[in-house]
Amino acid sequence: MSAFQAPTGTRDLYGADGARVEALVARFAHLAHLAAFGLVVSPMFEDAGVFRRGVGEMSEVVTKEMYVFEDKGGRTLALRPEGTASVVRAFVQHRPTVPWKAWYVTPAFRYERPQAGRYRQHHQLGVEVLGSADPDLDVEVVALLAGFYAAVGLERVELRVNSMGDVGCMPAYRASLAAYLGARAGELCDEHAATWERNPLRVLDCKRAPCIAVREGAPRVAEALCDACAGHFARFTAGLDALGVAWRRDDFLVRGLDYYTRTTFEFASLALDAAQNGIGGGGRYDGLVEQLGGPATPGIGFGSGIERILLACEAEGLASLGETTLDVFVLDVTGGAAARDITHELRQAGISAERSFDGRSLKSQLKQADRSGARVACIVGPEELAAGSVTLRWLRRGLDAAAGPDAGQQRVERGALAATLDAWLR
Ligand code: HAM
Repeated sequence: MSAFQAPTGTRDLYGADGARVEALVARFAHLAHLAAFGLVVSPMFEDAGVFRRGVGEMSEVVTKEMYVFEDKGGRTLALRPEGTASVVRAFVQHRPTVPWKAWYVTPAFRYERPQAGRYRQHHQLGVEVLGSADPDLDVEVVALLAGFYAAVGLERVELRVNSMGDVGCMPAYRASLAAYLGARAGELCDEHAATWERNPLRVLDCKRAPCIAVREGAPRVAEALCDACAGHFARFTAGLDALGVAWRRDDFLVRGLDYYTRTTFEFASLALDAAQNGIGGGGRYDGLVEQLGGPATPGIGFGSGIERILLACEAEGLASLGETTLDVFVLDVTGGAAARDITHELRQAGISAERSFDGRSLKSQLKQADRSGARVACIVGPEELAAGSVTLRWLRRGLDAAAGPDAGQQRVERGALAATLDAWLR
């Protein structure tokens, strides 16, 4: 065993996983651009107050899971446990023109009990939009995420939606929920028996059997929404229907962070264990900008866990995600200078190419070429070198056996190499 291992609850993503992450990020970036989002990159750490005030003093993410530390200047900082609060802090600081549509890919740090699908550093793809309360924006944001999962090839995904109401109707709902829970406090799980009064909504989010049993009879938020919130929700769900995005209402979808108002949503992978099947979620947070010291500005967004998406893809048997084939492997037994020049030339022509280094034997280079998965071998021996040519040979013909010229091998002038390969690989 090596002296150092990745810290508990973290993973190294490389090889096939690295390729899958690259494919996910590229696809997400493309869809985000199509919907006019711009990339935002902000610090991995913030004044701890950004998350305490933003995510909520009562949320588990802040009370139990946040990595808080003091820097050499005596500042109390926290590693970002999620993306929203920092993006909103950036908005308040810079005041970009609204609506501000930002997307991000970021690590997030939470001191959780590590298990499959739950890590101490995970990675999120997300968007935030600041400056519009229009329910059509809720539709756009949810449809973007649904479209992303579809583009990745995930089929067993369920969208659950709810509304949390706003500052007008939420307090009355909280009070009626608290009254209900007060009467049954003895039946709640140990944790919530002690904390339900401070934040009764957390009980609805609890995954433990006693709380699940109690919540079945709890008052429903749907019945407590004011007309404006009910209208917002109706327009939102009608929009999902219009765009053909399937959804299911979940009265108890309150989510684990305290900033949500009105729309909340979560995508679950039905191919994963229920405890860790949330592959993405989000909602509105119309009070968060003010909470962080900015002017009243509505907002909405989502975060989707890259590791969870990878697990869902695996569970659905989507093996092809991120699979790329190398076009050409250059084998050079004349000293390596030809391989150096040819790989450079091919890459400039948009053809992917690899070679071996360190003056290996032909046998060893052939083994490497085979392992690389390249479709074509480009061979330079003394004879080719003297004649200013190379030999091309199929290593893999690809799915379409009719593709490329019939000859299994072809001698090509160096000057015609890129054009010939283009025809072979097309
Ligand atoms: P969240 O639901 O806490 O929301 O996290 C978003 C996603 O990150 C989850 O759906 C899940 O896929 C993934 N995730 C969360 N924790 C872990 C973990 N420990 N290990 C692996 N994956 C994890 C937010 O973070 C909000 N900022 C989303 C949002 C954006 N709401 C509005 N805008």
